[in-house]
Amino acid sequence: MDMNSRLENISAEQMAPVCRIVIPKSCCLVIFGASGDLTRRKLIPAIYRLFRQRLLPRGFFVLGVARSEMDSDRFRALMSEGLREAFPEECDETCWRDFSSRLHYRAINYHDAASYRTALGEVLPTLEKAADSGGNRIFYLATPPGVYGDIIGTLHQSGLASQANSHVKLVVEKPFGHDLASSRELNATLLDAFRESQVYRIDHYLAKETVQNILMFRFANSLFEPLWNRRYIDHVQITAAETIGIERRAGYYEQAGVLRDMFQNHMFQLLSLTALEPPSLFSADRVRDEKAKVLHSIRPFPLERLEECVVTGQYAGSAAAGIKGYQDESGVAVDSGVPTYAALKVWIDNWRWNGVPFYLRSGKRLKRRTTEIAIHFRPVPHMMFSQTMGGRIEANTLILRVQPDEGIHLEIQAKNPGSRMCLMPVSLDFLYPREVSLSAYERVLLDCMEGDQMLFVREDGVDLSWSLLTPLIQALEDRAASGVLFPYEAGSDGPAAAAALLERDGRCWRPL
Ligand SMILES: NC(=O)c1ccc[n+]([C@@H]2O[C@H](COP(=O)([O-])OP(=O)(O)OC[C@H]3O[C@@H](n4cnc5c(N)ncnc54)[C@H](OP(=O)(O)O)[C@@H]3O)[C@@H](O)[C@H]2O)c1
Repeated sequence: MDMNSRLENISAEQMAPVCRIVIPKSCCLVIFGASGDLTRRKLIPAIYRLFRQRLLPRGFFVLGVARSEMDSDRFRALMSEGLREAFPEECDETCWRDFSSRLHYRAINYHDAASYRTALGEVLPTLEKAADSGGNRIFYLATPPGVYGDIIGTLHQSGLASQANSHVKLVVEKPFGHDLASSRELNATLLDAFRESQVYRIDHYLAKETVQNILMFRFANSLFEPLWNRRYIDHVQITAAETIGIERRAGYYEQAGVLRDMFQNHMFQLLSLTALEPPSLFSADRVRDEKAKVLHSIRPFPLERLEECVVTGQYAGSAAAGIKGYQDESGVAVDSGVPTYAALKVWIDNWRWNGVPFYLRSGKRLKRRTTEIAIHFRPVPHMMFSQTMGGRIEANTLILRVQPDEGIHLEIQAKNPGSRMCLMPVSLDFLYPREVSLSAYERVLLDCMEGDQMLFVREDGVDLSWSLLTPLIQALEDRAASGVLFPYEAGSDGPAAAAALLERDGRCWRPL
């Protein structure tokens, strides 16, 4: 039986006192690859929503650049279409007209310094003067990653990577490298041109309310932190399940697979935030120091005994649901060995987490879309109810839900009302009201303008997670050649072998 006792749904009004509203300094946002999908579907809608909420600085404008030839009017029309598709209910004509006058576009040739001189060296100062943006610039790399190095190099050579008396920042989209060697090369190129304090490596998962709330929840309440260790926690499960397949991204996904796409960044970031020690200060570098220490403490995967720590799978078609298998997707090799699902067992070798396994799973075409961190506490040490009540009593579980329906749920046991003595699981729920939340891209754009790097990944964070995963990916790719990749039906829980990974330890996954 299940009863939800809802402490939930604090209204926007009740939430107001916790809000900190800082309008960032005037600046411009230069988007490279602005003709692309990310700009149209995510970036411009996010900026428009910030504009509508009056969270953007007065002197703000966007300059989109890409190779496609078009004028600013055409660019505005494309962005307007993107916004209408993403948020049809939010398109206010007057607001859009006002906003779109701040959108500009110039064609650019990434390999030609003269083209930068025109599009950026000449056009930018003119727009800046008109908008009174104070010369502060944010360059956003929204091109395929293969072009990042060229853009960074040309920005550097053209003297655009720094400016006296105003700030220059660089936002880098994922994926950040393909493996340890390529991520190191990209970091070296970046840090040749920019200082680390100018660089914002995006992991948009970090901008979800629940993810940010992990630290507040742990360190602003005295209730949980004393329990947050191996004495009270049995194990932790981190899940990022998607119902969608690879959509039109076969070219990227065939090169990436689930470990590069989800684990190197999002899953390891969620893991490190859950497991970190209390930072001395709630500041970007102190928090990132602690996250790095967690990654340092992860035990290297036993490559000669992969079955102990990892299961990978690939979705097969479902005739019933009319869904294609991965190998039948357009652009995917018919014999592709790329995993679309992985489950990992991770050990953190430090005082706090000794003996507590962290189980991570992520996959495409699964039964339900959900991202959550589930903290499974140990059962009570003595079962005094065993004579009056038969059956097993479930241990407490704390669920930090990242998506959908961001919130926190604590599953406890309570007495069933009535004359019979029996226990039932009850869930204490807190849900974030949608209207007070910023979307992940709104949050990261605003933080970047404000110069807050807390939600962005530092060089050592990228390096450490690739150091852990690259040998594992390499070993799995070698093994895939010998055919060990478990198929799972689209719309299912994933491969049965992933369930066995936990069953061997006497545990089971939370149902999707
Ligand atoms: N789309 C998403 O939801 C999403 C989510 C997370 C991360 N990302 C990352 O964000 C970046 C941009 O994503 P996107 O989906 O917008 O990519 P995209 O649509 O494939 O590419 C963006 C633009 O880059 C230009 N471009 C394409 N190939 C190029 C090449 N070989 N050399 C130079 N320019 C090229 C194209 O513009 P021109 O031809 O006009 O130059 C294109 O419109 C990628 O790194 C992606 O991994 C995207």
